[in-house]
Amino acid sequence: MEKFDLIVLGGGPAGYNASEKAAAGGLKTLLIEKRALGGVCLNEGCVPSKALLYCAKVFDYTKHSADYGVKVEGSSIDQNYVIDRKDKVVKTLVSGIGMSMKKHGVKVVNAEGYIQGRSDEGFSVKAGEEEFVGKQLLICTGSVPVIPPIPGLRENVETGFVMTNREVLDLREIPKKLVVIGGGVIGLEMASYYNSVGSEVTVIEMLDKIAGPTDGEISKILLNNYAKKGITFKLGCKVTGVENGKVLYEEKGQQQVAEADKVLCSIGRRAFTQDIGLDNIAVYTERGAIVTDEYMKTNIAGVYAAGDVNGKSMLAHTAYREGEVAVNNMLGKKDRMRYNAIPSVIYTNPEVGAVGETEESAKAKGLDVQIVNLPLMYSGRYVAENMKADGIVKVLVDKKYKNIVGVHMIGSYASEIIYGAAMMVETETPVNDLKEIVFPHPTVGEVIREALFEVK
Ligand code: NAI
Repeated sequence: MEKFDLIVLGGGPAGYNASEKAAAGGLKTLLIEKRALGGVCLNEGCVPSKALLYCAKVFDYTKHSADYGVKVEGSSIDQNYVIDRKDKVVKTLVSGIGMSMKKHGVKVVNAEGYIQGRSDEGFSVKAGEEEFVGKQLLICTGSVPVIPPIPGLRENVETGFVMTNREVLDLREIPKKLVVIGGGVIGLEMASYYNSVGSEVTVIEMLDKIAGPTDGEISKILLNNYAKKGITFKLGCKVTGVENGKVLYEEKGQQQVAEADKVLCSIGRRAFTQDIGLDNIAVYTERGAIVTDEYMKTNIAGVYAAGDVNGKSMLAHTAYREGEVAVNNMLGKKDRMRYNAIPSVIYTNPEVGAVGETEESAKAKGLDVQIVNLPLMYSGRYVAENMKADGIVKVLVDKKYKNIVGVHMIGSYASEIIYGAAMMVETETPVNDLKEIVFPHPTVGEVIREALFEVK
């Protein structure tokens, strides 16, 4: 039985990054992955969706190019090409991770791992026919889509009429009518893609707003943009059933029907902890997610959990960092996870970038904040590149300490700008010091700098 300092279960962003860092730190590391390295993020989430969305963006440019004096006639999208291209992107990146594991000396086993128990030597894990022992264990088994007990839903997932994030990225035929259940991140990004490529899209959302915890004003601007582009939003509506060709839902107490050629179910994800042997070592879970502290430790000494499996933030970039925090603690380096400055992005067009408190969450916590709200039209570059656009940036400043506690943005490049804002929130740098930082001109991000000068 081969022995390791660390066994990592699951090769998504948490697992592969942690393996790399652990091996670099001198730990003999084994990474067990049942499917493909890269996990959901790389194979059926973040990366493939961005590959698709970029194709849609290029297609959209051709549709609106006349606004910029460029004549394009008869542009069309080749869905087969788009999917093939996406597959190539994924393949390139997955093989890159494989190479990185090799370079760092991480042993990778491609099999389903199962925790069998513990002994004086450590934790024993079975992977396929092999058995291994690890002095420490890092669980990074990720998450799976939630499929609620709505009549007909599960059956129609099996027939292929209802898709999850996995199938929607592999659709070779553009559905004429697509119904999206859940107006969260996955729902919106995919609604955006299929709207661009010509589907008639309806989004059915239980809440009275789209994009979940996103700042209310930004959420409204996003909705208006997509309503103009032709997406139908059914807010405050509850899906009551799915039958072949239709989705039944309740709107203000009335039963309604939305016809569909395909349905995407994107109503959230849940931690994946089933059948991996957690009970054999008595790891504590709550509502199916592994309970971790700020060091990513579980209730069992030597067992850590990072990524979606702890149900805390369910973002790939959180997973990376959690994996690093876990490894640093194993290596005896002081490190802890902080969740207050984790940026989030919705890759729609316009993009949404956000970090920290929203107007709503600040109010709920009773924080005394000044809110500076500026149109992106304050940016020369934004005006130069956008014909009619309504992007904004909202900056929330703690009135007492004069530091930034939240930034919310909708408009071009928001995804690339937001990490700068995250640094402002994370470092708690006073606004007066931030004012001394020079931003490149002309950029859209400069509007954040403008906002700093509006702080009283
Ligand atoms: P989500 O939690 O973002 O959104 C789910 C939405 O479905 C919510 O608005 C909820 O109110 C609604 N909903 C729940 N039950 C419903 C029902 N029965 N009928 C109608 N609406 C219902 O979940 P989503 O979009 O599935 O994404 C899953 C995870 O993946 C999220 O944690 C997200 O953070 C992550 N993700 C992140 C991305 C990014 O960072 N750009 C991209 C895609 C996914």
